[in-house]
Parts: sequence; C-alpha cells; structure tokens
Amino acid sequence: MSKYSEIKKITVSHLKKMKAEGEKISCLTGYDYTSAKILDEAGIDLVLVGDSLGMVMNGYDNTLPVTLDEIIYHTKAVKRGLKRAFLVADMPFGTYHSNMDDAVKNCIEVIKTSGAEAVKLEGGREIVPVIEKLTASGVNVMGHLGLMPQHVHTMGGFKIQGKNGYESIIQDAVALQEAGVFSIVLEGIIDKAAEEITKNVNVPTIGIGAGRYCDGQILVYHDVFGMFDDFVPKFVKRYADTKSVVLDAAKQYIDEVKNSDFPDDDHSFKAKK
Ligand code: KIV
Repeated sequence: MSKYSEIKKITVSHLKKMKAEGEKISCLTGYDYTSAKILDEAGIDLVLVGDSLGMVMNGYDNTLPVTLDEIIYHTKAVKRGLKRAFLVADMPFGTYHSNMDDAVKNCIEVIKTSGAEAVKLEGGREIVPVIEKLTASGVNVMGHLGLMPQHVHTMGGFKIQGKNGYESIIQDAVALQEAGVFSIVLEGIIDKAAEEITKNVNVPTIGIGAGRYCDGQILVYHDVFGMFDDFVPKFVKRYADTKSVVLDAAKQYIDEVKNSDFPDDDHSFKAKK
C-alpha cells in the first residue's frame, strides 16, 4: 500500500513529491457528487471536472459548447463528494482566450465559487502570460498539451500528436513549467514524446493516451467504467461494464412494472394493524 493512501488531503506539494519519489499519480474525471464520493472512497489522488462533460454528460460532438456556468455547477457537486482528492476544474473554450483581464477574471471566478483547488488550461507558449498572471495571483494552474480537444477544428479532428516530431511540444512543456504550472496533462501523443517531456520538466505529467512513462494517468469516468460507447478510443481501458449492468437492471425493472411485480409488499407501506 502507498504511504500516500494515509494522507488525509492531497495538495499540490504531495503531487510534486509523488513525481520526485516515482509514485504514480492516479487521476480520473468526475462530474457529480455520487461518482466523486465513490472515487474518493477508492483513493483517487486527483479528480478533474473536465470539459469532456460536454460529450459524456450532455451528448455534444466535442467540448466546445461547454460554458463557465456548467463547469462551476459540476465542480460544486464534485467538491461535495470529495474529502481527500485534489480537485481541478477545466476552463471551457473561450473563457481564457479573448484578453488577459477576462481570462484572469473567469479563472478566479471558478476558484472562488466552485471549490476547485486548481484550473486547467489547454495550450502552449501562447497562454504563458495568462498562466504567469494566475500563478502570481495565487491560482494553481494545470497545463494541457498534445491533443487539445478545444483545438479540434484547427487540428483537423482528434489526432494523435508527435508522430512527425515533438520538439515543439517539449518547448511548450518547458515554457508552461517556467510560467508556474504545477502539473501538465499530456493527451494523445506518442509515448516517446511523453517520456521525453516527463524527463524534461520537474512538474508531474499526467497522461491520457500518452503511454506509460508519464508521472500519472487520467481517463474519463464514463470510459473507464464502460458507460459511454459512442466511440471508444484505443487508449481507453474499461475496468467495468456498467452499461450492461444498468441496461439489464433497467429491463428487469420495466418487466416488473409491466407485470405488476413491482412494488411488492416489501416495498409498500401498510396501514397499522
Ligand atoms: O476534459 C477532460 O476530461 C480532459 C481530460 C481528458 C484530461 O481534459
């Protein structure tokens, strides 16, 4: 058992120490109170309220329509379910791009109102000034490089990055580190690139579709537990088939209602004798 399972509340310092000591960091996305409570009970180190909620919770084709209010709403719910895990909220597309003042105002609003302990921003050197301002203002920032879903249209789809070279991603990672991020998500990049980045920065890298060499791993809740099957990327490992469990239970419930088998006397209230 890891010595970190004894820690009552995970902080940024613990995450950095985990990298230094070679302790892998376990992360998952979460979007609601009940799921967050289960993840916390299981001992997850970090929960991200990802803008992936646009796809798995709301059925959009991509993450772009997600709003600041939606992220705040879901982060508040997740916060109520967590005691130990570190909580990060994803900044939606368009909330940190137009100008510095709006970017800082929106990130601070998320920290102030949602209970998140950090925000996550997608992007490389172009968002360094925003990250510098946030970290100087006392906001923990997580970076996100490689396949950046908010760039889906400019990247021409959800495409694995680094196949034709990854020097530029390494430079972005170093720039984010210098700007003060406490960690960097590496999404959808070849494992060699993730390995090189992980060696070149002293903040933890958290991989998703980035191979085994990152300091930690993250997956989307609905993917890990087999609930979402609109598409299943190669990097997803399903640790449960919850969809089948719920589907079978729902069918049984429907049958029992139709046949008047539910509710039976055990699930009904009776007059006092
Ligand atoms: O939105 C999200 O869930 C994410 C993770 C996949 C890292 O950004």
